Amino acid sequence: MPSITRRDLLRSGVALGASTLVAGSVGRAHALLAGYPEAASAEALSAIAPRERLLFDFGWKFFQGHASDPRRDLGFGMGQGDFAKSGEFEFATAKFDDSKWRSLNLPHDWAVELPFVHDEELQSHGYKPLGRRYPETSVGWYRRTFDIPKEDEGRRVWIEFDGAFRSALVFLNGYFIGRNDNGYAPFRFDLTDFLNYGSKNFLVVRMDASFGDGWFYEGAGLYRHVWLTKTDALHLGHWDSCVRTTMHGDAAFLTLSTVVQNDGKQAESYRVHWHILDPKGTLVTSATAHGMVEAGQSKMQRGDIVLHNPALWSPESPNMYSGAIIVEFDDKIRDAERISFGVRDLQWDADKGFFLNGKSVKIKGTCNHHDHAGVGAALPDQLQRYRVAVLKDMGGNAVRTSHNMPTPEWVEACDRMGMMMMCETRQMSSNAEGMAQLEVMVKRYRNSPSIILWSMGNEEWTLMPQPQGVRVIDDMIARSHELDPTRLCTAAVNGSFETHFPERLDVMGFNYNLKDIDGYRAKHPKQPSVGSETASTISTRGVYSTDKLRNWVSAYDANHTEWSELAEDWWKFYAAREWLSGGFAWTGFDYRGEPTPYGWPSISSQFGIVDMCGFPKDNFYYYKSWWGAEPVLHLLPHWNWDGREGEPIAVWVHSNLDSVELFLNGKSQGSKKVEPLTHLEWSVKYEPGVIEARGTKDGKVVLTEKRETTGAPVSIRLTTDRTEINADGEDVAVLKVEVLDKEGRAIPTAGNLISFKVSGEGALIGVGNGDPNCQESDKEPKRSLFNGLAQVIVQSTRTPGTITVEAYTEAWPPPKLPSTRVTITTKKVELRPAVG
Ligand code: GAL
Repeated sequence: MPSITRRDLLRSGVALGASTLVAGSVGRAHALLAGYPEAASAEALSAIAPRERLLFDFGWKFFQGHASDPRRDLGFGMGQGDFAKSGEFEFATAKFDDSKWRSLNLPHDWAVELPFVHDEELQSHGYKPLGRRYPETSVGWYRRTFDIPKEDEGRRVWIEFDGAFRSALVFLNGYFIGRNDNGYAPFRFDLTDFLNYGSKNFLVVRMDASFGDGWFYEGAGLYRHVWLTKTDALHLGHWDSCVRTTMHGDAAFLTLSTVVQNDGKQAESYRVHWHILDPKGTLVTSATAHGMVEAGQSKMQRGDIVLHNPALWSPESPNMYSGAIIVEFDDKIRDAERISFGVRDLQWDADKGFFLNGKSVKIKGTCNHHDHAGVGAALPDQLQRYRVAVLKDMGGNAVRTSHNMPTPEWVEACDRMGMMMMCETRQMSSNAEGMAQLEVMVKRYRNSPSIILWSMGNEEWTLMPQPQGVRVIDDMIARSHELDPTRLCTAAVNGSFETHFPERLDVMGFNYNLKDIDGYRAKHPKQPSVGSETASTISTRGVYSTDKLRNWVSAYDANHTEWSELAEDWWKFYAAREWLSGGFAWTGFDYRGEPTPYGWPSISSQFGIVDMCGFPKDNFYYYKSWWGAEPVLHLLPHWNWDGREGEPIAVWVHSNLDSVELFLNGKSQGSKKVEPLTHLEWSVKYEPGVIEARGTKDGKVVLTEKRETTGAPVSIRLTTDRTEINADGEDVAVLKVEVLDKEGRAIPTAGNLISFKVSGEGALIGVGNGDPNCQESDKEPKRSLFNGLAQVIVQSTRTPGTITVEAYTEAWPPPKLPSTRVTITTKKVELRPAVG
């Protein structure tokens, strides 16, 4: 081992070749990078170093407290100087008996379990009784007992929350540890001083959802992952490891940085190694820096690396590189973490729009909130992938995380599956809370190649037009640039186009207001722009005439609110303007809350291009025709119009072929040429039978699509999206439920109530049907079909085996259908390290 000189110690940012690495470091880098691949986007992961990152999701106890009556809230807040004395919180000690509390695993959202309450004040949150007027359902207590071994003494131990809704108070072993108010930003607390080493520890988290953060369904509780992280006293800074990439011709210049933090009692010398692995996992290059850090101090380290002809990241080829960052001295590893990053080049041009890797790319985006059918805000990681896959299938290439910081696994899914992201913070403010949220967002996600733009906020009506708004946005953008000089910033602006606010944005974000966009552009020709929010088209899946009594909106592309647009109108507008970089339709998925244009009993929005389960509405195929790369032919409506014989029915086709001919029971209804970005329309007198579209490309029929008049239901069909899932207690299979007539055809209007029995190594965690008016439970093992469809989500246990899902009907309501079942294999996998 060559001795390190003082000059070495003072140098940092020295790029060296792999051959100069200390023995064993490369091998350890490989070991580190061989860990669980999909949870590693910006985090330390595995334990080649003293570092451990343990999933803290399993084995919690839960109790519904009370927001205003301390006697029903574990006596907490009786008024005796509640936080004045430490060590007296008995509920977080061995003396407390939680045996009557409910057992559950995280992520958990208690809001989705609550009944719907008809109170118009609750409308935007989906009529769930949360808030100051509902104290008995707004507070939840989580408790977990765990062991900490004696050997952990001297290490740093942190509890990390990926986000929790809301106002978390954390207690350990009788001591108050910390609080976090907002519902979306990740936060963590240092437990080191408060742990019982070599014995049991008692952790309690009190969550209070009395206040909301937004005007949409937000969930309640520990709805994201929780982690326990242990490090050596000499460790890497939290979210400080960062790779910035800049392309110069065919070469990528990587600027590496990290922070070494010394929480020990004496100064330490160290080396930092960065090992970079290409998307195939081959070590391609390394860099090393030396340093010394005083006790209680931290030190930023930088390195530079050049990658020649890197595999670039794009939605079509989401190539991910990995970096292992190791801190050692004398070959003794003190800390290590892995990050994932991508190499790609972003350019925003005021005249020509957005460029990715030098190629013009129109943003075909959707805004999305974070809840899903059955599970509310507590999505298993696999559901994030499921949702991204639905949007990709539509031809979407981007999402906006409206209006809050996303859960890490959503970003991870976008990184790995190829979906660009406009990542938005919740609170647009330069106050301490707003800035803290922004900083956390940028630091947490700046290595993610999917993120192409930071959004500072959305439609802050009162702030944006004021001088305060200008000051706030200037401060936020400056801070974002400081933490991440590689990405531009935007905000979603509605109705303040004439003020100074939008001028301050790197990229102007237009919300709606198509008629004012050209005028704004004429006055600001040098500012790049994007449609930060568009559409808000409304439709109910499978419904073909608006029915105000039933709170239904027809699914033809025909309805929008007074401020919004049809799919066809906004996309034609954006497609025709090269300088507009594309846009984000409101919304990809339906979400709970905002049941516009109706109220009770509607509990969810109708803005989605797909419903809350991810079942496509018809507009999905408009977007797929003009956003996607595949030939599309989609015909609507269904052909079950019993009693309407002889009446004209509007028949639409979404297609990107050359022309389409329509047939009713074999008789041509005429052929029509497809105009770009436009649907086709016929009026056909109804007669039962078959309506069929034949789509032609270059003179040949390449696709046909038909709708048939179906008969009475005789059977149930269950289809699982995956027949094999991981036996890790986390993975899920998503099942589609339909009923069929005697010809085996799915009945598009069916509303049968189907019950489910799940046995074996799994459990039902939620059901849904995409009906914006359905107030059936998300958790009970039964669901009515809505226009022919329902969804069941089942989750594996950690024991390999099989899960059997049986679907059946009760004797009432008729008809009684024979039961059917599907079996899913759960395969043994390496479990993520978890708190035992
Ligand atoms: C927008 C707002 C969204 C949603 C939408 C409904 O103005 O940004 O959060 O409320 O309207 O159309």
